[in-house]
Order: sequence, then C-alpha cells, then structure tokens
Amino acid sequence: MKFATFLTFLSFGVSVLAASAADWRSKSIYQVLTDRFARPDGSTTAKCDPVGKYCGGTYQGIIKQLDYIQNMGFTAIWISPVTFQIQTWTPYGQPWHGYWQQDLYKLNSAFGTADDLRALAKALHDRGMYLMVDIVVNHNGWNGNETSVDYSVFKPFDDIEYYHSFCDVDYSNNTSIQDCWLGDSNVELVDLRTEDAAVAQEYQTWIQQLVANYSIDGLRIDTVKHVDTSFWPGFGEAAGVFITGEVTNGDPYGLCPYQNYMDSVLNYAMYYAATDAFSSTAGSMSKFVKQLNGMKSQCKDTSVLGSFSENHDQARFASLTNDMSLAKNIITYTIMGDGIPIMYEGQEQHYSGAQDPYNREAVWLSGYNTGAPLYTLTSSANQIRNHALYVDGDWLTYQNWVVYSDNANVAMRKGYDGYQTITVLNNKGASSADYTLSVTNTGYDAGLKVVDVLSCQVLTAGSAGTLAVPMSQGLPKIYYPLGLLECSGICGY
Ligand SMILES: *[C@@H]1O[C@H](CO)[C@@H](O)[C@H](O)[C@H]1NC(C)=O
Ligand SMILES: *[C@@H]1O[C@H](CO)[C@@H](O)[C@H](O)[C@H]1NC(C)=O
Ligand SMILES: *[C@@H]1O[C@H](CO)[C@@H](O)[C@H](O)[C@H]1NC(C)=O
Ligand SMILES: *[C@@H]1O[C@H](CO)[C@@H](O)[C@H](O)[C@H]1NC(C)=O
Repeated sequence: MKFATFLTFLSFGVSVLAASAADWRSKSIYQVLTDRFARPDGSTTAKCDPVGKYCGGTYQGIIKQLDYIQNMGFTAIWISPVTFQIQTWTPYGQPWHGYWQQDLYKLNSAFGTADDLRALAKALHDRGMYLMVDIVVNHNGWNGNETSVDYSVFKPFDDIEYYHSFCDVDYSNNTSIQDCWLGDSNVELVDLRTEDAAVAQEYQTWIQQLVANYSIDGLRIDTVKHVDTSFWPGFGEAAGVFITGEVTNGDPYGLCPYQNYMDSVLNYAMYYAATDAFSSTAGSMSKFVKQLNGMKSQCKDTSVLGSFSENHDQARFASLTNDMSLAKNIITYTIMGDGIPIMYEGQEQHYSGAQDPYNREAVWLSGYNTGAPLYTLTSSANQIRNHALYVDGDWLTYQNWVVYSDNANVAMRKGYDGYQTITVLNNKGASSADYTLSVTNTGYDAGLKVVDVLSCQVLTAGSAGTLAVPMSQGLPKIYYPLGLLECSGICGY
C-alpha cells in the first residue's frame, strides 16, 4: 500500500532531480512557520496566542496562500520541521514550532498528513518553486529535566547509548557547545552522539528517505554549531540536496569555515551588522561595510549564503524601530545583498513582535494585505533581482562592491559592466531632509539612462558614470539600466 503511494507520487512527474547549491543560488526564500502562516479554513480572524499553543496553520493552508508568497517575487519557501513532536503540555506550551522532535519516522499530524505535505511539494513545483524543510539532528525534545528522560520514547534512537550525558552548555568551550544539552530543566534538548558511526549512518538513511518521500529541494538545519563538524559531509551527501545551516556566529572568521562542511550557512555576520546599521539613525555604516568586505574575503562562496534580516529566533526589526524608511532599507539590503534572500513571514506586514515567542505572530491576522508598503517594496526588489539574474546569470556571483559610503549612506554595485545594479541605502530615517548623493564608480557609461526601480524615477549617468542620486525621506534606491528593462513589466517598461 505504502509502496503504491510512492509510485503514484513519482508518476505525477514531480521533479526528482535534486536541487543543488547552483540551483538555489537564483532562488529567493519566504520563511514560513507552518503553524502560524495559513489555516486550511482560510480564516483571517482566528485568534493566535503567540505563547504556547498550536494556532492551526497547516500544509493545506499554505497551498491556499501560495499566490500571496509568489506575488511578492519569492521562488521558494522554507517550512517548519515536519517530524513528530512531544505530545504533552510543557511549561512552555506545545511544540507548534517543531523543534522538539521525538520520532524521525512519523510526521507532526498538527500540520497535516503525508499526502498534504506531498501536495504542498507538488503545488510548489507546479509553480517552478522550491521546498526547503527545516530539520533538527542535534537533539530530541523531552518534557522535563535531565533525570527524568525516558529514552525509549525516541525513535529510532531509543536508548541512552545514543546520547551524550547531561551537562549545561559552556559557550567558552567548543567541546561543551557540541556535546552538552541545550534547553533547560523544563524542556531538555537531549543531545545525540552524532560523532558515533551508528548514529551518523542512521541519520543518513533517514534524510535520504525524507528528501525522496516528500520531494524536498533543500534543507535548513537547526543548531549546526552544536554538532561535530565531521558529521556534516556524509549527511550532506546522503541528503543530495542543498543545505543551509544555522550557525549563530557574527564573526566571518568563525562563520565562513562552516562552508567547508556544508553548502551554505545563514549569514548571521551580516544580520548583526545590518541590524546595527539600519535599526537606528546612529547605526554604524562603517562596521556594516567592514563586515560585508570581511564576508567577501573569508567565505568560500557568498552567493549561496542565506541573506536575512529577521527570523523566528530574533526580535523583529520593527520592535527596534517603527521607522518605515529604515525597514525599507534593511529589506532592500537583504534582497540585493550577496546570497539567497530569505524573508521571515510577517516582515512584509511590518510585524513588530520582540523576543521569541512574541515574534511568532499569525500572518493570517494581517488579512494577507498585498497593499502593505513592505509587501510592495519586497515585490519590487525581488522582481528586479529575478530580472537581473535572468538577463545575466553572472549577476549572482558578482560580489557586491561598496562603491560609496559615508556615515549614513552606502552604495553597492552588483553585476558586471553593462548589467550592474547600483543599490543605494541609508539610515537617515523617514523624516530626513532631501539631499543629493554623488555616487561614483558605478561603472555605467556617461549618458546611460538608469531607472530606480523602487520609485521608477529615471536618472542619466554623468561623466565617468557618476550618479547624482536625489535622496528623499530616507528611502532606498535600486538602479538598473533602462535599456535592459524592455518587456520586463518593471516600471511599465
Ligand atoms: C526532575 O524531575 C523529576 C520528575 O518530575 C522530579 O521528581 C525531580 O525533583 C526533578 N529534579 C530536579 C533536579 O529538578
Ligand atoms: C569542555 O567541555 C567538555 C564537555 O563538557 C569537558 O569535558 C571539558 O572538561 C571542558 N574543558 C574545559 C577546559 O573546561
Ligand atoms: C519513506 O517512505 C517509505 C515508504 O513508504 C517508508 O517506509 C519510510 O519510513 C519513509 N521514510 C521517511 C523518513 O519518511
Ligand atoms: C572554537 O570554535 C570557533 C568557531 O569554529 C573557533 O573560531 C575557535 O578557534 C575555537 N576555539 C578553540 C579553543 O578551539
């Protein structure tokens, strides 16, 4: 019976070609917390207490709202971990986020059935979009303290021999980071001995099946720095698809080496620097530029890093400042910076929840407003990125070059001669006075007409390609040659 289902799903013609880092480089990802994005009943009013309880989002709910995601220019989604979780009520409520797994071979039924998950993969593939699934290998979840763990409930690792013995993580000690337990005495995250061959082998078998069973195109991996690095190459090979890992490290020298073990990491180094630079009119542009150059020099391939400015683990940008122009600048950076853009659900609605769990608000309560200012901005920025990489595939691997910067402004060029975008960012805020910024080193020919695709204003490059950029209300700009916009639909061309 199960075998028959498997065959049927193959015969649907769903792409069975594994998506590589090169395939993902051109994608743009919308991060969905499955429980908090869309309900199957399409409700836009169902209450959702961010603390603790399942709110009713499902795979079928996501399928119904794919237009909302695709019309913002996204070409992939990342969903919550799909596996079976702690079933009992914990001091922190229910595991609706998916990070308290207990059985690798069962699904979390709160999100739907196996067929629902396959239907989501198919709906995405029918649109030419990719499915990324969040996974956890570092730990299993236990409702209780370290003395009370019943190892037999965990599948397939159902014995104490598969686990490290209990200790609290000491962040000054790398062995401790890898071997000790995350969580606390309310909910322990029981740490697997991923360095053991038997554990690694079982994980490889599992991931190969999971990717095949659900036509998964890529993986986001949780708590990567808490697992021994030698685990990753074999795991990645077994998965056979693109992997981006969560390594919370703001230092290019600490973060970039992980690209020796997996395709990609989430770019936490730029996350911290960009948040600092754009969340306040006093933010440091020089540190932002230094960090951008540090990533360019230290990372093996910046073009496949995950470029993000919000996620479910960090206080939302709008909890730091409610200035709409600052929010537009950081989103513009996120999409036009090097790497694969990732936007966290609700950022486009200017949601302002602070620390977890308050930053995990239900998206349906926005009514999926496609007229929201950040929704339209995101759509324009994704649209020019999608267009620029279509016109010239090398646009993606050209590393952003900061051609101009001062205390409050930065201009970056991406793309080879003739095909380059010039992105102009600032942290002056919505109430700043108008000024003209002279941006040099654009590489544009004198007299070339370029369009700011966010405002549709046309500028003509001056001598040596210098752009006299009219800055107003602290808004960001993305310039692109007018001649290359023909038939794109962008700004009416
Ligand atoms: C651990 O949990 C058990 C079972 O709930 C409880 O009896 C015990 O007192 C707890 N131990 C500690 C050290 O908190
Ligand atoms: C580092 O952590 C490991 C694992 O807990 C421990 O065995 C070791 O003694 C620690 N090293 C130092 C120098 O504290
Ligand atoms: C994949 O599907 C097969 C066939 O139905 C099943 O035996 C296996 O347990 C599944 N594995 C996972 C990880 O879902
Ligand atoms: C710990 O790991 C970090 C990040 O990989 C590395 O930069 C640092 O040198 C390591 N420290 C020690 C003492 O090995």
